[in-house]
Amino acid sequence: MTRTFRLDDDRQTLVLAATNERLPQVVYWGPRLPEGDDLDTLHAAHVLDVTGGMLDENPDLSICPEATRTFPGQPGLIIRDTDGTPLLPKFCFSDMTNGDNLSLQFVDEANGLKLTTTFVPDAHTNVITCQTILDASRPVHLHWLAAPVLPAPQQSEEMIDFSGRWCGEFQPNRTAWSPGIRYRENRTGRTGHEHFPGLIVPCTGATNTQGEAYGFHYGWSGGHRMVAEELPDGRRQIQWGHAARMETEAATQFKTAPLYITYSSTGLNGVAVAFQRHLRDRIVTWPKPTTPRPVHYNCWEAVYFDHKLPVLKDIAERAAALGAERFVLDDGWFGQRDDDTRSLSDWTVDPRKYPDGLGPLVDHVKSLGMTFGIWFEPEMINEDSDIHRAHPDWALGSEDQTLGRQQKALNMALPEVRDFLFDRMSTILRDHDVDYIKWDHNRVLPMPDAAQTRGSYALIDRLRKEFPDTEIESCASGGGRIDFGILQRTQRVWLSDSNDALERLRIQHDAALFLPLSVTGSHVGPRKCHTSGRVLDIQFRAWVAAQRHMGFEMDPRELDVHEASVLKEVTHWWKSNRDWMQLADILRLDSADPAVLAEQQMAQDGHRFVAFVGKAATSNQIAPRPLRLTQLDPEAMYKIRLANRLHVTPLSRGTPLLKTKDMTVSGRYLMHAGIVLPWSFPERMWVVEGERL
Ligand code: DGJ
Repeated sequence: MTRTFRLDDDRQTLVLAATNERLPQVVYWGPRLPEGDDLDTLHAAHVLDVTGGMLDENPDLSICPEATRTFPGQPGLIIRDTDGTPLLPKFCFSDMTNGDNLSLQFVDEANGLKLTTTFVPDAHTNVITCQTILDASRPVHLHWLAAPVLPAPQQSEEMIDFSGRWCGEFQPNRTAWSPGIRYRENRTGRTGHEHFPGLIVPCTGATNTQGEAYGFHYGWSGGHRMVAEELPDGRRQIQWGHAARMETEAATQFKTAPLYITYSSTGLNGVAVAFQRHLRDRIVTWPKPTTPRPVHYNCWEAVYFDHKLPVLKDIAERAAALGAERFVLDDGWFGQRDDDTRSLSDWTVDPRKYPDGLGPLVDHVKSLGMTFGIWFEPEMINEDSDIHRAHPDWALGSEDQTLGRQQKALNMALPEVRDFLFDRMSTILRDHDVDYIKWDHNRVLPMPDAAQTRGSYALIDRLRKEFPDTEIESCASGGGRIDFGILQRTQRVWLSDSNDALERLRIQHDAALFLPLSVTGSHVGPRKCHTSGRVLDIQFRAWVAAQRHMGFEMDPRELDVHEASVLKEVTHWWKSNRDWMQLADILRLDSADPAVLAEQQMAQDGHRFVAFVGKAATSNQIAPRPLRLTQLDPEAMYKIRLANRLHVTPLSRGTPLLKTKDMTVSGRYLMHAGIVLPWSFPERMWVVEGERL
């Protein structure tokens, strides 16, 4: 007997099939199949042959591979009883619901276990959300529980996953498939710079704009494990779950985080657009995707801990004049926080810096037409703080642990810690007109701990409920806590502490594989970047920030007249375009010149686009190579304009058309021949606007 299940959206089909009562396996995942395909036949057609040296049948690569069925790879579940005895699960089908979502239940009566897996397709975003839940009849210890296990394609030579560091987030790694395991375990206790929980498996020949690719993202902020394994028989499996030892307590229920997956036949961009849309339209459900994102001003790199009311007021006036719409007061306003050695958790306003409280600054900011945001780092505590002196036992980890940025993490699993934080934070939020929190998390945990992540989620959820109009930005030394789990509760991410536009250009480009403009903060930094020492032109700094949710983070008093006017101009451009850009798809372009990082932001209705063409280095060849655009209507005509043509350097001596004129050409021409841009210095950005006629 065969049991089959089919999930479709307009571009992909996923077929699951099970023999008798066994767990099902994915027997097809790829472009949408015709309705006429018979699922039993697909199941039978999927069976691989066997030869000498093999079992008489290839064990199923099921949605939770069981060691008890001689599966030759990593099993999907590893548990033991509280006395230490390993349990060897073997599940049988028990129940299902199959409407808009597919939910399948299996039981292992001998071990008192129930396994539930769900698959939720989404016709609008092309992302399938899947999850596994394990219930036990008595407390058991969990070592590993995988979200529904998916096969990886055979027609693929490599996988792309992501590592990173402070000021260098989202670094793609390409690893060739070979027999055995690529195993990535994030043991930092937070999503981390080091291991973003995402994977793209491109099929052979796939590029940004063409070919097939499969995308995966594990939506959890506490550290994950990814296993990408090629089995001895050549099949490939992808497993995702929480990092090991995250569950120290025996329990009767365990859930994986949601695993988000998608198949694309339009290159890496198909994966990127699915994730961008799903995050923007399904995960961040408020504010609406259409609500204009305000231009930010953040004072961190202007004043650091040196808060002086007259200076901050002056800065706020200048920021507003440049076009800022929200002023965010960063670290340094509370306790006795004169540097980063003290006061975390003492969340009361520092009377030395603000003798009349925050009121005068908030009022001033509001009188300038801006809203007011404020920084917290709720999960953290300095030993040198009143709260640590009163409650040393609230800190997570041993007394002699190695500190991170001179601080410890609070134990968020303790209700009294969450109550304390809720109380202190809500006092600030109630007493002042605050519409924004920058929520930081500047160290890794002493050990991975799922209860800590659940505690953080619970605190954020409680605050969100009490202050539903207050947005939250997820920051962790820059991009150390970016995932769909935290973004279910926050509305923006601080992608990186690097305000170096050159670094940022690259980070933004790679983060766009998962993140849309609407959540991705990007600020114009100081002339001389504080984290790299590079000196970059204001044009480049401003346009790189204008690629995402724009803001400023330099001391505006350093701007000369030219810089201020460029910044004003680009900010004005951003404000005039944000309504459609924040709903656009970010498509990475295949640049023929490795020195050029380019993307095309395509309006939802396809009627307009803007291409940002960033020159990250000097090119090897002397003349710029034409740049092909993507996903245009080949038959339609497009009017193309170089938005910043006034900034052509005199070293560009020739006559490329766009240098002096707009041009009208077909989509086919743009996608085949590409656009020819003027010669430019490195660390410059061309901005090309396109309109469908
Ligand atoms: C780290 C963040 O990433 C910075 O933007 C800033 O908020 C500092 N923390 C403040 O301590």
